[in-house]
Amino acid sequence: MSSSTGAPRVAVTRHEHFNAAHRIHNPALSDADNTRIYGKCNNPSFHGHNYELIVRVTGPLDPVTGYVIDLGELSTIVKREVLDRLDHKNLNVDVPEFRNVNPTAENIAIVIYNLIRPHLADHLDLYLTLGETPRNFVHYPATSGA
Ligand code: NI
Repeated sequence: MSSSTGAPRVAVTRHEHFNAAHRIHNPALSDADNTRIYGKCNNPSFHGHNYELIVRVTGPLDPVTGYVIDLGELSTIVKREVLDRLDHKNLNVDVPEFRNVNPTAENIAIVIYNLIRPHLADHLDLYLTLGETPRNFVHYPATSGA
């Protein structure tokens, strides 16, 4: 996809959703410290969340298509790379990316970013918002790239 110099930059978002179970646990810490830091999220029997994922792609408007990116194409990428891997899974047990990574919302956002990023054209910027509860959201990268 080509972009002309001076083309207006536009952001588009695709909202997705998945359910997953996890346990927040750092094996380098004592059980007491894990309980103190993570509370109920350290429950050995796991617990689930309804994750809300907002995938934001920013880039120059393509003068031919009038798109930043075809949102249908973005949806296909997110489904294949993220939802098919994470939805209805136990992140600690079922998803290799978390075998040695503590599945906090922050780390989940970083893993998702790294799953999507290789499938986007270089001239597009990617920015994720991941909601773990209706009140708790994480953002990656920390700045939107406007
Ligand atoms: Ni949790």
